[in-house]
Amino acid sequence: MRLQLEEFIHIPVLRDEVIDALLVQPGGRYIDCTVGQGGHASAILEHSSPGGQLLGIDLDPQAIAQAKERLLPYGKAAFLINNDYKNLEDICSTLDFQPVHGILFDLGLSSFQLANTSRGFSFRFDAPLDMRFNPAQELTAATIVNTFSEQELVAIIANYGEERRSRRIARSIVASRPINTTLELAAVVQRAVGIRGRIHPATKTFQALRIAVNQELEHLKVALEQTVHLLGFGGRLVAISYHSLEDRLVKEYLNRESRDCICPPRTPVCVCGHKATLRLIDKKPIVPSPAEIEANPRSRSAKMRVAERI
Ligand SMILES: C[S@@+](CC[C@H](N)C(=O)[O-])C[C@H]1O[C@@H](n2cnc3c(N)ncnc32)[C@H](O)[C@@H]1O
Repeated sequence: MRLQLEEFIHIPVLRDEVIDALLVQPGGRYIDCTVGQGGHASAILEHSSPGGQLLGIDLDPQAIAQAKERLLPYGKAAFLINNDYKNLEDICSTLDFQPVHGILFDLGLSSFQLANTSRGFSFRFDAPLDMRFNPAQELTAATIVNTFSEQELVAIIANYGEERRSRRIARSIVASRPINTTLELAAVVQRAVGIRGRIHPATKTFQALRIAVNQELEHLKVALEQTVHLLGFGGRLVAISYHSLEDRLVKEYLNRESRDCICPPRTPVCVCGHKATLRLIDKKPIVPSPAEIEANPRSRSAKMRVAERI
């Protein structure tokens, strides 16, 4: 399959909205937890000059290498670290990079990773079942597909793919082992559930496997919890998610942290002693304009939520 050049270039989603939401200002300090190819990061550095600083984190060493090249013009204003955002506080304390004016998460994977024919994220071309953001990690999608029990597969596909036909798909996967490549897996899923509508029947199964391989939801939860300790007062937390599971997690975290009491409903007197640490900027998420979706169809599912440290 031939790919267009623009499919390799990751176009930063809601770029201007991110700069506004982070209140980027000259001399400010920012963390981009998912620096990718440095699209948002370069915009942040541009708007925080002179004197601004950006710490960019990514789990994928290839992304860090690309970001390094792209951010070269900003010299020492950009620090790039190949690490997991679940270690956010440790990274910042090692580098003495706190407090900060803003923290950004642009979740999921980049167009470059999706279009990379050897990473196994997409069923558009054949590749080994890999799906790791961190190539040093042991667990791959192949391990899950070929060694996990049918029940474990049902749980992964149902919970992380929100796929109603998880049982049928899991049964079919187990019966078709070994499954070695993306196209083999896509064909197994298609045989199990048939084709309905425009969306490929393996889309949800692939999303589920990617989330499971990278423990995406667990790591996001751990990372979000650390942000309030790093933000200075008035600092902004901005998170862009691309599917309902991520968005729910972000929304629940922001809702909880913006409340003074988190006791279960109908508790007569507050016993939790929780104090709000964040203020929600908008109740509803910010989404791309029709013009942005037209120019960059991959932005269509994006939802951006913003909160301010109080
Ligand atoms: C949507 S892309 C970010 C694109 C970036 N905003 C840009 O403009 O180029 C998401 C990035 O998050 C990275 N990522 C995913 N999980 C991560 C984690 N737990 N820790 C750090 N980076 C992670 C991926 O490797 C990917 O490069």
